[in-house]
Amino acid sequence: MKAELIAKFAARFGRAPAVIARAPGRLEFIGNHTDYNGGTVLGVPIDRGIWVAVAARDDGRRRFCSEAGGAIKTLPVENPPAKQRGAGSWLNYPLGVIAALPEFGLRPPAGFDFLALSDLPSGAGLSSSAALELASALAFLALGGQDAPRATVVQLCRRAENHFVGVPCGILDQGVSGFGQKDHLVHIDCRGPSFATVPLPAAARFWVFNTHTKHALVDGLYAARHRECMAAAQLLGVALLADVSPAALEAARAKLPPVEFRRARHIVEEIARVDATVTALRAGDLAAAGRLLTASHRSSQLLFENSTPELDFLVDQLTAAPHVHGARLTGGGFGGAVMALTTPEFSEAQATAVATAYAEKFGARPDVLRASTGDGAALQ
Ligand code: GLA
Repeated sequence: MKAELIAKFAARFGRAPAVIARAPGRLEFIGNHTDYNGGTVLGVPIDRGIWVAVAARDDGRRRFCSEAGGAIKTLPVENPPAKQRGAGSWLNYPLGVIAALPEFGLRPPAGFDFLALSDLPSGAGLSSSAALELASALAFLALGGQDAPRATVVQLCRRAENHFVGVPCGILDQGVSGFGQKDHLVHIDCRGPSFATVPLPAAARFWVFNTHTKHALVDGLYAARHRECMAAAQLLGVALLADVSPAALEAARAKLPPVEFRRARHIVEEIARVDATVTALRAGDLAAAGRLLTASHRSSQLLFENSTPELDFLVDQLTAAPHVHGARLTGGGFGGAVMALTTPEFSEAQATAVATAYAEKFGARPDVLRASTGDGAALQ
């Protein structure tokens, strides 16, 4: 990828890049919508990601190009930058980072040429947006000769997404991309936030089935879940749902309307499942971890109501198959991808059979991706 990036940068901009950074995508292992509720979450940094190359310009222009976009988009240096719409909306991730840098006491870059290259499918629930933010942030900091603690970089990238892009996401995606380590999961306590890694037992394998379905209202539905959770916390008299135990929630059931109760129950039980998963992983018990993943999916399906018939079908097929420890939707939900945790014996032929059954029912084939763990965001 690096050689390809350098060659494409030279072809586009007629010179070599000064800085190259790469950041991985992630799988949400378990901890669904727990992050913005102050809970814990486990994510897997994967071996696919986004590469960013930059070189400084001194003519007051910022020039962007993506492999997919083709044409060069030129913007004047403005701090803070203006939000882009339509085809240029992918620029809002690096621009959001530029807008967030001063809020963290860091200098935004002046003019530059910027090229992004990806081997991470976008819109697949693998957090290509966070990968682009992290790679951009590291590249911009290095271009200006600046350094910042990794937790700061992660938080400024989340700020970019919340304030500039306008998605009220938690810290999961940026935290996993920023703190990833091969053969490990990233464990985040989102309230600090604090970041740690948990070794992944060597026999774990990951398969991702990307349905390419996306609910037309996905952004609005994510924001609605966010609101419902905050409303539930308020009715329970706590700042965040992470402050409530499953037993305390049950005792306070009468305080909540049915919808808010279901959302809250998903969150508090999911946080308990994350803790149980860490224990299972530390004991090397992938079967127990798998059961927790499937339980997480059922909770999404029935309580948080962020699954879809397509995702449920995949989970049903996968969990009925041999060599599968567990399966669940990964990411925000309302479409996107299902992840399965399997033994090494789970075969390509089995994955194909699941994809074929899906195609027979829904008329389109999901993409099947065999994902491995990979390292976190870094200069290259
Ligand atoms: C998306 C968000 C994350 C997290 C998940 C759901 O991926 O970006 O912050 O909330 O959904 O767990």
